[in-house]
Amino acid sequence: MRIVILGAAGMIGRKLALRLGALGALAARPVTGMLLVDRIEPQGLAAPFAVETRAADITDPAALADLAAWRPDAVFHLAAIVSGEAEADFERGYAVNLDATRHLLDALKAAQCRPRLVFASSLAVYGVPLPDVVPDDFNLTPRSSYGAQKAIGELLVADYSRKGFVDGISLRLPTIVVRPGAPNRAASSFLSGIIREPLNGLSAALPVKRSMRTWIASPSVAIESLIHAAGLTPEEAASARSLTGRGISVTVDEMIDALREVAGAAVVARIQDQPDPAIERIVASWPQAFAVDAATRLGFPVDGGMKAIIEAYIAEELGGRRAA
Ligand SMILES: NC(=O)c1ccc[n+]([C@@H]2O[C@H](COP(=O)([O-])OP(=O)(O)OC[C@H]3O[C@@H](n4cnc5c(N)ncnc54)[C@H](O)[C@@H]3O)[C@@H](O)[C@H]2O)c1
Repeated sequence: MRIVILGAAGMIGRKLALRLGALGALAARPVTGMLLVDRIEPQGLAAPFAVETRAADITDPAALADLAAWRPDAVFHLAAIVSGEAEADFERGYAVNLDATRHLLDALKAAQCRPRLVFASSLAVYGVPLPDVVPDDFNLTPRSSYGAQKAIGELLVADYSRKGFVDGISLRLPTIVVRPGAPNRAASSFLSGIIREPLNGLSAALPVKRSMRTWIASPSVAIESLIHAAGLTPEEAASARSLTGRGISVTVDEMIDALREVAGAAVVARIQDQPDPAIERIVASWPQAFAVDAATRLGFPVDGGMKAIIEAYIAEELGGRRAA
């Protein structure tokens, strides 16, 4: 089993590569090689198989042809620019998030290797008005360029799969909380910030109302979900070419309550309400909960709750030690 990860230097890509290195297998087949690709040279890793790292820009079709010539059995397409950046730079958003996806599909088609392609899509494919619980077959009406680029990518993956050029699946990842590292340019960045920063002894701005409800998953459930998607049978993948990942529906208040339970009132006091009308406007269009019938039927994993997500962040990212 030969695996390519595009966007391997990113938050999810790095964790996915490490997890596959530890597992040594995908869908009960031993991994024999892994190619890690990103605009920034990805870090290597110790694994029971050969790992190659490559700095390449996916907007260059020749770079995509090179990686298709490597003849992967599975491709994780995670390379993208995030929502805030795609909204600020229209041309670059379309070049990276859409045109490169099309070129990737064409390169895989030309190489005739028909890999399982797992495309990281997003809840941004949905737009208001939305029901409180969004069913699997709800219309996609994105309200951002990023959401439009992901929705078009999903259609391309489904059509290239229908024609038999790839065996694709688009997984709409919930918002990942707690994202480690520095804040990024996603409008959702504060959802990780209000947990991560206080646990690191820093103050965090909360730009929205505490009653805001959203759909989240931990980094480890996101990674296990991507691996699960890669391991579905061709029949299972054909039954759900695009699907929303399982998450938990929480309010900001519930997130803060869980933080208080895990870390105490002094840590929670580092969160400061600083309403930001621009962020509030964006957030108002976000889905709050999903039925996720397809993902449940196909056995995708799910988090055990907000407290467990915070405890996992402290154990995995802070070595079990948080600021008092
Ligand atoms: N993190 C989330 O909450 C979330 C939610 C839904 C969907 N997603 C999607 O999951 C994927 C991974 O997300 P992430 O949080 O790891 O993002 P990230 O920003 O940490 O990683 C994305 C990677 O893509 C790379 N990249 C960007 N442009 C590139 C180019 N032109 N050529 C090559 N590489 C390029 C970046 O260098 C970066 O390492 C993305 O497609 C994102 O849209 C993430």
